Amino acid sequence: MRKKVTVVGAGNVGATAAQLIHRLGYADVILVDIVEDMPAGKALDMQESAPLIGSDAKIIGSNSYEDTEDSDLVIITAGIARKPGMSRDDLLLTNMNIIGSVTREVVKFSPHCLIMVVSNPLDAMCQHAFEVSGFPKHRVFGMAGVLDTARFRTFISEELNVSVEDVHAYVLGGHGDDMVPLVRYTTVGGIPITELLDQEAIDRLVQRARQGGAEIVSLLKTGSAYYAPAASITEMTEAILLDKKRILPCCTYLEGQYGINNLCMGVPVKLGANGIESVIEITLTDEEKAAMDRSAASVQELIEVMNKNRPN
Ligand code: APR
Repeated sequence: MRKKVTVVGAGNVGATAAQLIHRLGYADVILVDIVEDMPAGKALDMQESAPLIGSDAKIIGSNSYEDTEDSDLVIITAGIARKPGMSRDDLLLTNMNIIGSVTREVVKFSPHCLIMVVSNPLDAMCQHAFEVSGFPKHRVFGMAGVLDTARFRTFISEELNVSVEDVHAYVLGGHGDDMVPLVRYTTVGGIPITELLDQEAIDRLVQRARQGGAEIVSLLKTGSAYYAPAASITEMTEAILLDKKRILPCCTYLEGQYGINNLCMGVPVKLGANGIESVIEITLTDEEKAAMDRSAASVQELIEVMNKNRPN
């Protein structure tokens, strides 16, 4: 029997991710949204592409969580997206309410699932879903580092005119302007980029990766990025469905690792069928640790705003 993956939110990110996951063929996909009939229409359209893409997986769209029953993995992309001039943090309270209600429905129908949070501001939404779900921490995590890293890798490969496949990079911390690209662990064909690029070029690429989401928002004008986010969701989904135990930067609840307590943040993890199977702790320089602490402080500020605004 194929695994069952639910994608909540059939907008740009959710529908694109559902299409990519359906195409893999490993899992049946349920696409859920509050807009009447829209997820059913999108899913039917995708199902009718099955003979062309050679996928025997099923995809259906629904307005009811009953159809999501016993999902193995639930991906939450519901919420509002950024418009020009907005930061991810401007979405906080609206998306907090959406994530809270979605998580309660998800847990009711799939008490054993893994939850991948995608809605922004990512780290705060991941923490909210983790707390509302009552699930153990390895079963609730967020997608951000894979995307931030993909952006950084893209810019490095363009700068050096080399294959994206040979560029390995790490971006840690929160999914915001304080994200922490780890230049020391960024390599091209195993060679540290510090051997291949001067400091000016590295700083420029780091800055572009930090602003990667905003760059897309300013070009799209009516919403935020979705092709690279959907591809990032798919990479994580594949690691889970095939129990690949990939080492990927993911948002997870930290209890002392990297000196951070009771906060969801991006760190390298082992991702497999059980979700976050372990957190990989690497030694940071004083400067990197200070950047990680700044990023944690920004996430903590959002958590405090959420705590003040939680419905009783
Ligand atoms: N339950 C289910 N779906 C919902 C709910 C809800 N309570 N509230 C909103 N939605 C749906 C909307 O109807 C819409 O179809 O979420 C979808 C969001 O889609 P888009 O507006 O296209 O936004 P998208 O670009 O997909 O981004 C979604 O992911 O990357 C993040 O920052 C982004 O938080 C945003 C989220």
